[in-house]
Amino acid sequence: MEASMPKRKEPGKSLRIKVISMGNAEVGKSCIIKRYCEKRFVAKYLATIGIDYGVTKVYIRDREIKVNIFDMAGHPFFYEVRNEFYKDTQGVILVYDVSQKDSFEALDGWLAEMKQELGPHGSMENIIFTVCANKIDCSKHRCIDESEGRLWAESRGFLYFETSAQTGEGINEMFQMFYSAIVDFCENGGKRPLTNISISFTKEQADNIRRIRNSKDSWDMLGVKPGATRDEINKAYRKLAVLLHPDKCLAPGSEDAFKAVVNARTALLKNVK
Ligand code: GTP
Ligand code: MG
Repeated sequence: MEASMPKRKEPGKSLRIKVISMGNAEVGKSCIIKRYCEKRFVAKYLATIGIDYGVTKVYIRDREIKVNIFDMAGHPFFYEVRNEFYKDTQGVILVYDVSQKDSFEALDGWLAEMKQELGPHGSMENIIFTVCANKIDCSKHRCIDESEGRLWAESRGFLYFETSAQTGEGINEMFQMFYSAIVDFCENGGKRPLTNISISFTKEQADNIRRIRNSKDSWDMLGVKPGATRDEINKAYRKLAVLLHPDKCLAPGSEDAFKAVVNARTALLKNVK
């Protein structure tokens, strides 16, 4: 079964879409929705029990959009309740808390849960995903930086926004772009418009930035064995420099990765005859 498209109507006619929220418990899914729909923030944590449902009307380029929002509980305890709600979805708001590393690392698990519930014939290709790196107001405790989150999202063709449900930063912009992307997708007969969320970097670039970020020392960073010769170091360096040079590479984090590679080469060459 393909994720179903809302019925196509003439341009200008109202469109009905289904949107769900996903992400670990307490990352701020309900608060993001509340901030957008009710323009307020509740500091006290009220866990969503199973699912919260709401309907809202928005206008995108003068077209009326009726949005059915299913706000899911993130706690594993509610898996049996939320698994019914994945199908027939046009948009997913995927949320993590920038100060909770495990909530970022859990994003792949959320995609896997959705894929499993859609079954072997379900497709995630027809769904617009937007990633919210939430609670950016908690900057002191932030442990996932923008380039890491953006790289994760954009390498999958997802939208990415830095948000705070507390201050409201990024929330309206996120919903506006998210709904626009869904409408573009529907008006384009269920095909991704070329201009929309196109990935502007290669998988090789993204993989290397991630690898460099997680490398344990300068050898590892250049991808050479400890004790490599000057020539091997320079060869590995040149390859990475061409791949990640900020003038050529638009991937988030490329500038830092490039600098790290330059520093690694300098450090290694100091000790090599
Ligand atoms: P579940 O329903 O259990 O899955 O959680 P949830 O993801 O819906 O989290 P919820 O929106 O209920 O927010 C959890 C807690 O984080 C609450 O105490 C909120 O006040 C707080 N919170 C949410 N967003 C933000 C934010 O942007 N900044 C700060 N500082 N706190 C936030
Ligand atoms: Mg909630």
